[in-house]
Amino acid sequence: MDSGKLITFEGLDGCGKSTQLEKATDWLNAQGYSVLKTRQPGGTIIGQQIRSILLNPEHEELQPESELLLYLADRIQHLQELILPAKTAGKIVLCDRFHDSTVAYQGYGRGLNLNSIESIVAHCIKPYAPDLTILLNISPETVASRLECRQEHAEKDRLDLESLSFFKRVAQGFQELAATEPDRFICINGEQDIEDIHLQIVNILQQRLQLS
Ligand code: TMP
Repeated sequence: MDSGKLITFEGLDGCGKSTQLEKATDWLNAQGYSVLKTRQPGGTIIGQQIRSILLNPEHEELQPESELLLYLADRIQHLQELILPAKTAGKIVLCDRFHDSTVAYQGYGRGLNLNSIESIVAHCIKPYAPDLTILLNISPETVASRLECRQEHAEKDRLDLESLSFFKRVAQGFQELAATEPDRFICINGEQDIEDIHLQIVNILQQRLQLS
């Protein structure tokens, strides 16, 4: 039995979800709720090591299947070590990315057949699906221009180096996932002003979690 909630934030690289997650955490804390803000990959000590392997731009030799399994390993570790205990303790867990990212990036983006790992996913990940997922939509062209800024600041990671067509496939993946589970997904235009997006997220949190 758990009384907490798992709320995930999803979207393309540079969609602004980390900023919104931070603002939502501050808002929930100000309402007196106990919140755990975390992320995938990299929410645990093991996960931080996995993250540094995954995002290192020098790791060009990383195989798509190895990449997939590393994201899953991070997620299983994160669920068991951090997310499930926090939910049991009644916390609202706000997580920057979750399994939808794997379906969108490794499934749609890389073209991997995720059915081949269905048994791992079915047993270790799917039973703990998010209660709510906030998807921030930006166009793949906006990703390219926002990542261009990161390049100027030498902050590009391995996935930031992907092509426009890769991000188009990932974007399609997110749209199809959202269409399949309209109750879980709330889609927001991520190209709006930061404060406008935040207000929409606060409204959703009030409605969906029955907070006042
Ligand atoms: P972040 O910088 O938004 O935390 O995400 C790190 C990168 O990892 C981002 O490019 C998306 C990618 N990613 C996947 O490809 N598959 C996954 O399952 C997750 C969680 C992230």
